[in-house]
Amino acid sequence: MSAPLSPKQAQALALVKSGGLRRINILEGSVRSGKTWISMIMWGFWVAGAPRNGAYLMAGKTLTTLRRNVLEPMCGIFGDCFSYSLSRKEGSLFGRKIYLEGAANAQSESKIRGMTLNGAYCDELSIFPEDFFAMLLSRLSAEGAKLIATTNPDNPGHWLKRNYLDNKALSLLDLKFTLEDNTFLPPEYVRSLKTEFTGVFYDRFILGNWTAAEGRIYEDFSQKCVISPAELRQRLAESPLITSVIGVDYGGNKSASAFVHTGFDAGFRNVYVLSEHYDPRNSSAEALIDAFKGFTDEEKERFPVLSAACCDSAEQLLIKSFRSAVSLEVKNALKKQVSTRINMVNRLISAGRLHVSAECPHLIDALNSAVWDEHSIHKDVRLDDGSTNIDSLDAFEYSIERFEREMFHF
Ligand SMILES: Nc1ncnc2c1ncn2[C@@H]1O[C@H](COP(=O)(O)OP(=O)(O)OP(=O)(O)O)[C@@H](O)[C@H]1O
Ligand SMILES: [Mg+2]
Repeated sequence: MSAPLSPKQAQALALVKSGGLRRINILEGSVRSGKTWISMIMWGFWVAGAPRNGAYLMAGKTLTTLRRNVLEPMCGIFGDCFSYSLSRKEGSLFGRKIYLEGAANAQSESKIRGMTLNGAYCDELSIFPEDFFAMLLSRLSAEGAKLIATTNPDNPGHWLKRNYLDNKALSLLDLKFTLEDNTFLPPEYVRSLKTEFTGVFYDRFILGNWTAAEGRIYEDFSQKCVISPAELRQRLAESPLITSVIGVDYGGNKSASAFVHTGFDAGFRNVYVLSEHYDPRNSSAEALIDAFKGFTDEEKERFPVLSAACCDSAEQLLIKSFRSAVSLEVKNALKKQVSTRINMVNRLISAGRLHVSAECPHLIDALNSAVWDEHSIHKDVRLDDGSTNIDSLDAFEYSIERFEREMFHF
Protein backbone atom coordinates (compact mmCIF):
# COMPACT_ATOMS: atom_id res chain seq x y z
CA MET A 1 0.00 0.00 0.00
CA SER A 2 2.88 2.34 -0.64
CA ALA A 3 1.45 3.28 -4.06
CA PRO A 4 1.52 7.01 -4.84
CA LEU A 5 -1.68 9.00 -4.48
CA SER A 6 -2.90 12.12 -6.24
CA PRO A 7 -2.99 15.22 -3.98
CA LYS A 8 -6.77 14.99 -3.78
CA GLN A 9 -6.57 11.32 -2.81
CA ALA A 10 -3.91 12.06 -0.19
CA GLN A 11 -6.21 14.69 1.33
CA ALA A 12 -9.06 12.17 1.50
CA LEU A 13 -6.88 9.54 3.17
CA ALA A 14 -5.55 12.08 5.69
CA LEU A 15 -9.14 12.53 6.86
CA VAL A 16 -9.34 8.85 7.78
CA LYS A 17 -6.04 8.95 9.61
CA SER A 18 -6.97 12.10 11.57
CA GLY A 19 -10.43 10.82 12.54
CA GLY A 20 -12.06 13.33 10.20
CA LEU A 21 -14.63 10.95 8.73
CA ARG A 22 -18.29 11.60 9.46
CA ARG A 23 -21.07 9.01 9.77
CA ILE A 24 -21.80 9.18 6.02
CA ASN A 25 -18.89 9.82 3.64
CA ILE A 26 -19.62 10.24 -0.05
CA LEU A 27 -16.95 10.51 -2.73
CA GLU A 28 -18.63 12.00 -5.77
CA GLY A 29 -17.69 13.54 -9.09
CA SER A 30 -16.36 12.99 -12.59
CA VAL A 31 -15.71 9.64 -14.18
CA ARG A 32 -12.19 8.24 -13.83
CA SER A 33 -11.35 10.82 -11.20
CA GLY A 34 -9.83 8.33 -8.74
CA LYS A 35 -12.78 8.01 -6.35
CA THR A 36 -13.05 4.23 -6.31
CA TRP A 37 -9.30 3.78 -5.95
CA ILE A 38 -8.98 5.99 -2.87
CA SER A 39 -12.32 4.88 -1.41
CA MET A 40 -10.97 1.31 -1.21
CA ILE A 41 -7.83 2.49 0.59
CA MET A 42 -9.90 4.65 2.96
CA TRP A 43 -12.20 1.72 3.67
CA GLY A 44 -9.26 -0.59 4.34
CA PHE A 45 -7.59 1.87 6.71
CA TRP A 46 -10.79 2.51 8.54
CA VAL A 47 -11.80 -1.13 8.86
CA ALA A 48 -8.31 -2.04 10.12
CA GLY A 49 -8.85 0.28 13.09
CA ALA A 50 -12.51 -0.63 13.72
CA PRO A 51 -13.75 -3.33 16.17
CA ARG A 52 -12.46 -6.75 15.23
CA ASN A 53 -15.69 -8.52 16.11
CA GLY A 54 -17.93 -5.99 14.37
CA ALA A 55 -20.02 -6.61 11.23
CA TYR A 56 -19.22 -4.89 7.96
CA LEU A 57 -21.00 -4.80 4.62
CA MET A 58 -19.93 -4.02 1.08
CA ALA A 59 -22.68 -3.47 -1.50
CA GLY A 60 -22.87 -2.79 -5.22
CA LYS A 61 -25.77 -2.66 -7.65
CA THR A 62 -25.10 -6.36 -8.24
CA LEU A 63 -22.49 -8.70 -6.82
CA THR A 64 -20.97 -8.94 -10.30
CA THR A 65 -20.38 -5.20 -10.60
CA LEU A 66 -19.13 -5.09 -7.00
CA ARG A 67 -16.59 -7.76 -7.83
CA ARG A 68 -15.43 -6.03 -11.01
CA ASN A 69 -15.27 -2.50 -9.65
CA VAL A 70 -14.06 -3.08 -6.10
CA LEU A 71 -13.41 -6.61 -4.83
CA GLU A 72 -10.93 -7.58 -7.53
CA PRO A 73 -8.97 -4.30 -7.30
CA MET A 74 -8.96 -4.69 -3.49
CA CYS A 75 -7.19 -8.04 -3.85
CA GLY A 76 -4.44 -6.18 -5.71
CA ILE A 77 -4.25 -3.39 -3.15
CA PHE A 78 -4.49 -5.41 0.08
CA GLY A 79 -2.89 -8.70 -0.96
CA ASP A 80 -3.20 -11.32 1.77
CA CYS A 81 -5.11 -8.96 4.05
CA PHE A 82 -8.23 -9.27 1.86
CA SER A 83 -10.07 -12.29 0.53
CA TYR A 84 -13.65 -12.96 -0.52
CA SER A 85 -16.06 -15.57 -1.82
CA LEU A 86 -18.99 -14.45 -3.96
CA SER A 87 -20.81 -17.75 -3.49
CA ARG A 88 -20.70 -17.36 0.29
CA LYS A 89 -21.28 -13.59 -0.06
CA GLU A 90 -18.55 -13.00 2.48
CA GLY A 91 -15.06 -11.64 2.71
CA SER A 92 -12.35 -10.86 5.22
CA LEU A 93 -10.47 -7.57 5.45
CA PHE A 94 -7.71 -7.24 8.07
CA GLY A 95 -9.38 -10.09 9.95
CA ARG A 96 -12.82 -8.41 9.98
CA LYS A 97 -15.79 -10.26 8.53
CA ILE A 98 -17.33 -8.46 5.54
CA TYR A 99 -20.79 -9.32 4.19
CA LEU A 100 -21.27 -8.79 0.44
CA GLU A 101 -24.62 -7.80 -1.04
CA GLY A 102 -26.27 -6.64 -4.26
CA ALA A 103 -28.80 -3.80 -4.22
CA ALA A 104 -30.51 -4.47 -7.50
CA ASN A 105 -34.10 -3.62 -6.59
CA ALA A 106 -36.39 -2.50 -3.79
CA GLN A 107 -36.69 -6.10 -2.50
CA SER A 108 -32.93 -6.28 -1.89
CA GLU A 109 -33.61 -4.15 1.14
CA SER A 110 -34.98 -7.23 2.95
CA LYS A 111 -31.54 -8.87 2.70
CA ILE A 112 -30.02 -6.43 5.19
CA ARG A 113 -33.03 -6.07 7.48
CA GLY A 114 -32.13 -7.11 11.02
CA MET A 115 -28.37 -6.66 10.66
CA THR A 116 -26.37 -4.52 13.10
CA LEU A 117 -23.47 -3.01 11.24
CA ASN A 118 -20.31 -1.20 12.24
CA GLY A 119 -19.44 -0.12 8.73
CA ALA A 120 -20.59 -0.18 5.13
CA TYR A 121 -19.14 0.50 1.71
CA CYS A 122 -21.33 1.28 -1.34
CA ASP A 123 -20.09 1.23 -4.93
CA GLU A 124 -21.96 3.57 -7.36
CA LEU A 125 -24.55 4.64 -4.83
CA SER A 126 -26.74 6.71 -7.18
CA ILE A 127 -27.91 3.55 -8.93
CA PHE A 128 -29.09 1.90 -5.69
CA PRO A 129 -32.79 1.95 -4.82
CA GLU A 130 -33.39 4.63 -2.16
CA ASP A 131 -35.11 2.08 0.12
CA PHE A 132 -31.98 -0.03 0.26
CA PHE A 133 -29.87 2.94 1.28
CA ALA A 134 -32.37 4.07 3.93
CA MET A 135 -32.43 0.54 5.37
CA LEU A 136 -28.64 0.39 5.30
CA LEU A 137 -28.33 3.61 7.28
CA SER A 138 -30.78 2.31 9.86
CA ARG A 139 -28.64 -0.84 10.25
CA LEU A 140 -25.48 1.20 10.92
CA SER A 141 -26.37 1.33 14.57
CA ALA A 142 -23.13 0.29 16.29
CA GLU A 143 -21.30 3.10 18.03
CA GLY A 144 -19.01 5.02 15.67
CA ALA A 145 -20.50 3.24 12.64
CA LYS A 146 -19.54 4.73 9.30
CA LEU A 147 -20.42 4.50 5.66
CA ILE A 148 -18.16 5.18 2.68
CA ALA A 149 -19.70 5.41 -0.79
CA THR A 150 -18.76 6.49 -4.29
CA THR A 151 -21.06 7.92 -6.94
CA ASN A 152 -21.21 9.90 -10.14
CA PRO A 153 -23.57 12.89 -10.24
CA ASP A 154 -27.06 12.47 -11.68
CA ASN A 155 -30.19 14.59 -11.92
CA PRO A 156 -30.28 17.36 -9.25
CA GLY A 157 -33.68 15.99 -8.14
CA HIS A 158 -32.20 12.50 -7.56
CA TRP A 159 -32.97 11.10 -4.07
CA LEU A 160 -29.30 10.98 -3.13
CA LYS A 161 -28.79 14.68 -3.84
CA ARG A 162 -32.12 15.92 -2.49
CA ASN A 163 -32.44 13.80 0.65
CA TYR A 164 -28.82 13.28 1.63
CA LEU A 165 -26.12 15.44 0.00
CA ASP A 166 -28.24 18.58 0.37
CA ASN A 167 -29.50 17.70 3.84
CA LYS A 168 -27.57 19.91 6.25
CA ALA A 169 -28.94 18.07 9.30
CA LEU A 170 -26.96 14.91 8.52
CA SER A 171 -23.45 14.05 9.62
CA LEU A 172 -22.25 13.80 6.03
CA LEU A 173 -18.93 14.45 4.38
CA ASP A 174 -19.17 15.26 0.68
CA LEU A 175 -15.83 14.81 -1.11
CA LYS A 176 -15.85 16.08 -4.71
CA PHE A 177 -13.46 14.76 -7.34
CA THR A 178 -12.90 16.07 -10.86
CA LEU A 179 -11.11 14.56 -13.81
CA GLU A 180 -8.15 16.90 -13.21
CA ASP A 181 -7.76 15.46 -9.70
CA ASN A 182 -6.61 12.16 -11.20
CA THR A 183 -2.98 12.83 -12.03
CA PHE A 184 -2.49 9.24 -13.21
CA LEU A 185 -4.50 9.44 -16.42
CA PRO A 186 -2.64 9.87 -19.73
CA PRO A 187 -3.46 13.38 -21.10
CA GLU A 188 -4.49 11.84 -24.42
CA TYR A 189 -7.12 9.72 -22.68
CA VAL A 190 -8.46 12.75 -20.80
CA ARG A 191 -8.70 14.69 -24.08
CA SER A 192 -10.66 11.92 -25.76
CA LEU A 193 -13.04 11.60 -22.79
CA LYS A 194 -13.69 15.33 -22.97
CA THR A 195 -14.68 15.17 -26.63
CA GLU A 196 -16.87 12.08 -26.23
CA PHE A 197 -19.10 13.36 -23.45
CA THR A 198 -21.57 16.02 -24.55
CA GLY A 199 -24.44 18.07 -23.15
CA VAL A 200 -25.71 17.05 -19.75
CA PHE A 201 -23.29 14.11 -19.68
CA TYR A 202 -20.34 16.48 -20.06
CA ASP A 203 -21.63 18.53 -17.12
CA ARG A 204 -22.07 15.46 -14.97
CA PHE A 205 -19.30 13.08 -15.94
CA ILE A 206 -16.54 15.50 -16.92
CA LEU A 207 -17.27 18.54 -14.73
CA GLY A 208 -18.83 16.49 -11.92
CA ASN A 209 -21.98 18.63 -11.53
CA TRP A 210 -25.52 17.50 -10.67
CA THR A 211 -27.19 18.93 -13.79
CA ALA A 212 -30.70 18.52 -15.14
CA ALA A 213 -31.22 17.10 -18.63
CA GLU A 214 -32.87 19.58 -21.01
CA GLY A 215 -33.44 20.10 -24.70
CA ARG A 216 -32.37 17.86 -27.55
CA ILE A 217 -31.01 14.50 -26.41
CA TYR A 218 -28.65 13.57 -29.25
CA GLU A 219 -27.11 17.03 -29.65
CA ASP A 220 -24.35 15.98 -32.02
CA PHE A 221 -26.42 13.71 -34.24
CA SER A 222 -26.44 15.11 -37.78
CA GLN A 223 -26.43 14.14 -41.43
CA LYS A 224 -22.74 13.31 -40.94
CA CYS A 225 -23.79 10.15 -39.10
CA VAL A 226 -25.97 8.98 -42.01
CA ILE A 227 -24.37 6.72 -44.57
CA SER A 228 -25.57 5.77 -48.07
CA PRO A 229 -26.05 2.07 -48.93
CA ALA A 230 -23.13 2.25 -51.39
CA GLU A 231 -20.82 3.80 -48.81
CA LEU A 232 -21.95 1.25 -46.24
CA ARG A 233 -21.10 -1.62 -48.60
CA GLN A 234 -17.68 -0.15 -49.27
CA ARG A 235 -16.85 0.40 -45.60
CA LEU A 236 -17.91 -3.13 -44.72
CA ALA A 237 -15.82 -4.55 -47.53
CA GLU A 238 -12.79 -2.78 -46.03
CA SER A 239 -13.58 -3.57 -42.41
CA PRO A 240 -16.07 -6.44 -42.12
CA LEU A 241 -18.58 -6.85 -39.34
CA ILE A 242 -17.65 -9.28 -36.59
CA THR A 243 -21.14 -9.58 -35.16
CA SER A 244 -24.57 -8.01 -35.36
CA VAL A 245 -27.71 -7.92 -33.22
CA ILE A 246 -31.36 -7.06 -33.81
CA GLY A 247 -33.00 -4.95 -31.09
CA VAL A 248 -36.75 -5.35 -30.75
CA ASP A 249 -39.28 -3.08 -29.08
CA TYR A 250 -43.01 -3.50 -29.24
CA GLY A 251 -45.56 -1.25 -27.73
CA GLY A 252 -49.09 -1.76 -26.62
CA ASN A 253 -51.72 0.77 -27.51
CA LYS A 254 -50.59 3.90 -29.36
CA SER A 255 -47.06 2.60 -29.58
CA ALA A 256 -45.33 1.07 -32.60
CA SER A 257 -43.18 -2.01 -33.11
CA ALA A 258 -39.60 -1.45 -34.12
CA PHE A 259 -36.74 -3.78 -35.07
CA VAL A 260 -33.29 -2.28 -35.50
CA HIS A 261 -30.37 -4.31 -36.83
CA THR A 262 -26.92 -3.11 -35.74
CA GLY A 263 -23.49 -4.43 -36.71
CA PHE A 264 -20.04 -3.99 -35.15
CA ASP A 265 -16.64 -4.14 -36.82
CA ALA A 266 -13.37 -5.39 -35.28
CA GLY A 267 -12.80 -4.27 -31.69
CA PHE A 268 -16.36 -2.88 -31.58
CA ARG A 269 -14.86 0.28 -33.01
CA ASN A 270 -17.54 1.27 -35.55
CA VAL A 271 -21.24 0.75 -35.01
CA TYR A 272 -23.43 0.43 -38.11
CA VAL A 273 -27.20 0.61 -38.08
CA LEU A 274 -27.87 -1.68 -41.03
CA SER A 275 -31.64 -1.88 -41.39
CA GLU A 276 -34.89 -1.30 -39.59
CA HIS A 277 -38.50 -2.39 -39.54
CA TYR A 278 -41.10 0.00 -38.19
CA ASP A 279 -44.82 -0.65 -37.92
CA PRO A 280 -46.96 1.98 -36.24
CA ARG A 281 -50.14 -0.12 -36.42
CA ASN A 282 -49.33 -2.98 -34.10
CA SER A 283 -52.31 -4.88 -35.45
CA SER A 284 -51.91 -8.30 -33.78
CA ALA A 285 -49.42 -10.60 -32.11
CA GLU A 286 -49.53 -12.91 -35.15
CA ALA A 287 -48.65 -10.08 -37.53
CA LEU A 288 -45.77 -9.09 -35.25
CA ILE A 289 -44.36 -12.63 -35.10
CA ASP A 290 -44.61 -12.90 -38.90
CA ALA A 291 -42.88 -9.57 -39.35
CA PHE A 292 -40.11 -10.62 -36.94
CA LYS A 293 -39.57 -13.87 -38.80
CA GLY A 294 -39.52 -12.11 -42.18
CA PHE A 295 -37.10 -9.43 -41.00
CA THR A 296 -34.78 -11.88 -39.25
CA ASP A 297 -34.62 -14.26 -42.22
CA GLU A 298 -33.86 -11.46 -44.64
CA GLU A 299 -31.21 -9.90 -42.42
CA LYS A 300 -29.51 -13.22 -41.76
CA GLU A 301 -29.30 -13.71 -45.52
CA ARG A 302 -27.73 -10.26 -46.02
CA PHE A 303 -25.51 -10.34 -42.93
CA PRO A 304 -24.62 -13.90 -41.88
CA VAL A 305 -22.79 -12.59 -38.76
CA LEU A 306 -26.19 -11.86 -37.19
CA SER A 307 -25.91 -13.50 -33.76
CA ALA A 308 -28.93 -12.61 -31.61
CA ALA A 309 -32.10 -10.63 -31.14
CA CYS A 310 -32.54 -8.69 -27.89
CA CYS A 311 -36.17 -7.99 -27.08
CA ASP A 312 -38.11 -5.84 -24.68
CA SER A 313 -38.62 -8.22 -21.78
CA ALA A 314 -42.11 -6.97 -20.89
CA GLU A 315 -43.88 -9.57 -23.02
CA GLN A 316 -42.48 -13.01 -22.21
CA LEU A 317 -45.19 -14.78 -24.22
CA LEU A 318 -44.19 -12.92 -27.36
CA ILE A 319 -40.53 -13.71 -26.76
CA LYS A 320 -41.46 -17.39 -26.52
CA SER A 321 -43.25 -17.19 -29.87
CA PHE A 322 -40.25 -15.36 -31.38
CA ARG A 323 -37.98 -18.13 -30.16
CA SER A 324 -39.98 -20.81 -31.89
CA ALA A 325 -40.38 -18.75 -35.07
CA VAL A 326 -36.70 -18.20 -35.87
CA SER A 327 -33.42 -20.08 -35.69
CA LEU A 328 -31.63 -17.27 -33.91
CA GLU A 329 -30.82 -16.73 -30.26
CA VAL A 330 -33.59 -14.55 -28.82
CA LYS A 331 -32.63 -12.86 -25.55
CA ASN A 332 -34.26 -10.49 -23.11
CA ALA A 333 -32.95 -6.97 -23.51
CA LEU A 334 -30.80 -5.88 -20.56
CA LYS A 335 -32.79 -2.64 -20.34
CA LYS A 336 -30.01 -0.64 -18.74
CA GLN A 337 -30.98 2.72 -17.24
CA VAL A 338 -32.15 5.04 -20.03
CA SER A 339 -29.53 7.69 -19.30
CA THR A 340 -26.79 5.04 -19.46
CA ARG A 341 -28.03 3.93 -22.88
CA ILE A 342 -28.30 7.48 -24.14
CA ASN A 343 -24.82 8.35 -22.92
CA MET A 344 -23.48 5.34 -24.81
CA VAL A 345 -25.12 6.46 -28.05
CA ASN A 346 -23.93 10.03 -27.58
CA ARG A 347 -20.35 8.93 -27.00
CA LEU A 348 -20.46 6.92 -30.23
CA ILE A 349 -21.87 9.91 -32.12
CA SER A 350 -19.29 12.39 -30.77
CA ALA A 351 -16.42 10.05 -31.54
CA GLY A 352 -17.64 9.62 -35.15
CA ARG A 353 -18.21 5.89 -34.56
CA LEU A 354 -21.95 5.68 -35.26
CA HIS A 355 -23.06 5.24 -38.87
CA VAL A 356 -26.77 4.94 -39.62
CA SER A 357 -27.78 3.63 -43.02
CA ALA A 358 -29.93 6.06 -44.98
CA GLU A 359 -32.31 3.12 -45.30
CA CYS A 360 -33.36 3.64 -41.66
CA PRO A 361 -35.44 6.85 -41.85
CA HIS A 362 -37.43 6.15 -38.68
CA LEU A 363 -34.37 5.81 -36.46
CA ILE A 364 -32.77 8.86 -38.11
CA ASP A 365 -35.89 10.92 -37.44
CA ALA A 366 -36.04 9.62 -33.87
CA LEU A 367 -32.39 10.55 -33.18
CA ASN A 368 -33.00 14.01 -34.62
CA SER A 369 -36.15 14.77 -32.69
CA ALA A 370 -35.77 13.15 -29.25
CA VAL A 371 -35.91 15.61 -26.34
CA TRP A 372 -35.66 15.35 -22.55
CA ASP A 373 -38.88 15.58 -20.58
CA GLU A 374 -38.49 18.83 -18.66
CA HIS A 375 -41.41 18.02 -16.38
CA SER A 376 -39.56 15.12 -14.85
CA ILE A 377 -37.74 16.61 -11.87
CA HIS A 378 -36.37 13.56 -10.06
CA LYS A 379 -34.84 11.54 -12.83
CA ASP A 380 -33.90 11.63 -16.51
CA VAL A 381 -36.83 10.80 -18.73
CA ARG A 382 -37.04 10.85 -22.50
CA LEU A 383 -40.16 12.73 -23.56
CA ASP A 384 -42.71 10.09 -24.55
CA ASP A 385 -45.93 11.93 -25.32
CA GLY A 386 -46.56 10.37 -28.72
CA SER A 387 -44.91 13.28 -30.58
CA THR A 388 -41.60 11.48 -30.99
CA ASN A 389 -40.63 7.93 -31.90
CA ILE A 390 -39.25 6.32 -28.75
CA ASP A 391 -39.72 2.76 -30.00
CA SER A 392 -36.97 2.91 -32.61
CA LEU A 393 -34.60 4.39 -30.02
CA ASP A 394 -35.38 1.63 -27.52
CA ALA A 395 -34.91 -1.05 -30.18
CA PHE A 396 -31.60 0.47 -31.26
CA GLU A 397 -30.34 0.69 -27.69
CA TYR A 398 -31.33 -2.91 -26.95
CA SER A 399 -29.13 -3.92 -29.89
CA ILE A 400 -25.99 -2.20 -28.51
CA GLU A 401 -26.30 -1.98 -24.71
CA ARG A 402 -24.79 -5.38 -23.95
CA PHE A 403 -21.54 -4.37 -25.64
CA GLU A 404 -20.87 -1.36 -23.40
CA ARG A 405 -17.60 -2.78 -22.10
CA GLU A 406 -16.42 -3.89 -25.54
CA MET A 407 -17.21 -0.49 -27.07
CA PHE A 408 -15.72 1.65 -24.32
CA HIS A 409 -13.00 -0.63 -22.90
CA PHE A 410 -13.48 -0.31 -19.17
N1 LIG B 1 -3.38 6.43 -6.87
C1 LIG B 1 -3.47 5.82 -8.06
N2 LIG B 1 -2.43 5.14 -8.57
C2 LIG B 1 -2.53 4.51 -9.75
N3 LIG B 1 -3.62 4.51 -10.54
C3 LIG B 1 -4.69 5.17 -10.07
C4 LIG B 1 -4.68 5.86 -8.83
N4 LIG B 1 -5.89 6.42 -8.65
C5 LIG B 1 -6.64 6.09 -9.72
N5 LIG B 1 -5.91 5.35 -10.59
C6 LIG B 1 -6.41 4.80 -11.88
O1 LIG B 1 -7.25 5.77 -12.50
C7 LIG B 1 -8.38 5.16 -13.08
C8 LIG B 1 -9.66 5.79 -12.56
O2 LIG B 1 -9.72 5.67 -11.16
P1 LIG B 1 -11.06 5.20 -10.42
O3 LIG B 1 -11.57 3.94 -10.99
O4 LIG B 1 -10.78 5.25 -8.97
O5 LIG B 1 -12.01 6.40 -10.86
P2 LIG B 1 -13.54 6.68 -10.47
O6 LIG B 1 -13.57 8.10 -10.01
O7 LIG B 1 -14.03 5.65 -9.52
O8 LIG B 1 -14.22 6.57 -11.88
P3 LIG B 1 -15.72 6.16 -12.31
O9 LIG B 1 -16.60 7.31 -11.92
O10 LIG B 1 -15.58 6.02 -13.79
O11 LIG B 1 -16.04 4.89 -11.57
C9 LIG B 1 -8.32 3.68 -12.76
O12 LIG B 1 -7.86 3.00 -13.89
C10 LIG B 1 -7.31 3.59 -11.63
O13 LIG B 1 -6.62 2.40 -11.69
MG1 LIG C 1 -15.65 4.24 -9.70
